[in-house]
Amino acid sequence: MKHVIKKKGPAKRVRWFALMIALGCWGVSGTSLADSDHSMVTLPKVYQAECAACHQAYPATLLGAPAWRRIMGGLTHHFGSDASIDEASVKAISTWLLAHASPRADLQNPPNDRITTSQWFARKHREIRPQDWAHPKVGSASNCMACHQGADRRGFDEDAVRLPVGVGRSQGWWRGGHG
Ligand code: HEC
Ligand code: HEC
Repeated sequence: MKHVIKKKGPAKRVRWFALMIALGCWGVSGTSLADSDHSMVTLPKVYQAECAACHQAYPATLLGAPAWRRIMGGLTHHFGSDASIDEASVKAISTWLLAHASPRADLQNPPNDRITTSQWFARKHREIRPQDWAHPKVGSASNCMACHQGADRRGFDEDAVRLPVGVGRSQGWWRGGHG
């Protein structure tokens, strides 16, 4: 009897330990996609110079290779703008983007080759009300830095989200809100 009770202690601890590990792994895999590692894997200068003039230089890991390939092949008609650059820069940037592109199935061909139309994006932003994207301080979902301060340097960690006043839950209970 004694011996059974003695056995219980360690077994319980082991189970608890396994649970903690499982939770830990779940936590890590739940955030590893593009949450912090996509941040700023030292962007090449040419990418910063050519692709951060009109919006931030988006992390390469937020789209798959096919989407990046189409974007880099269509810079003369780039989301309503002419973003064309010299061939050497196109080549250098494409090579880098493709090397860091996401392998995720849902990021290969999102509608319109946008980060912001992927299911992943919608899921991460389900708390944003549709009208918030058009808020004057935001303009469009593509303007990440309206809500992710310093995202071009620090990435998109949820702890760094600061919503403009009037955006998001009007109750303001949520961290990063205005409550
Ligand atoms: C002349 C301005 C300009 C330049 C330079 C530019 N872009 Fe854009 N880009 C835009 C505009 C405008 C949009 C659409 C933004 C919106 O819908 O609010 C856009 C959108 C995007 C999107 C989609 C964002 C989303 O909504 O998910 C990607 C990806 C992108 N650009 C990549 C690039 C890359 C890569 C380069 C460099 C080769 C680049 N851009 C250079 C103007 C530019
Ligand atoms: C209108 C404000 C707003 C805009 C614009 C916006 N986001 Fe977000 N984003 C949020 C909020 C709010 C969250 C949820 C934060 C939380 O869970 O606490 C979030 C979450 C995220 C996350 C998950 C962070 C994590 O740690 O789980 C990523 C990644 C992200 N956004 C990327 C982007 C990218 C890339 C863009 C631009 C293409 C963008 N966001 C534009 C408000 C915004």
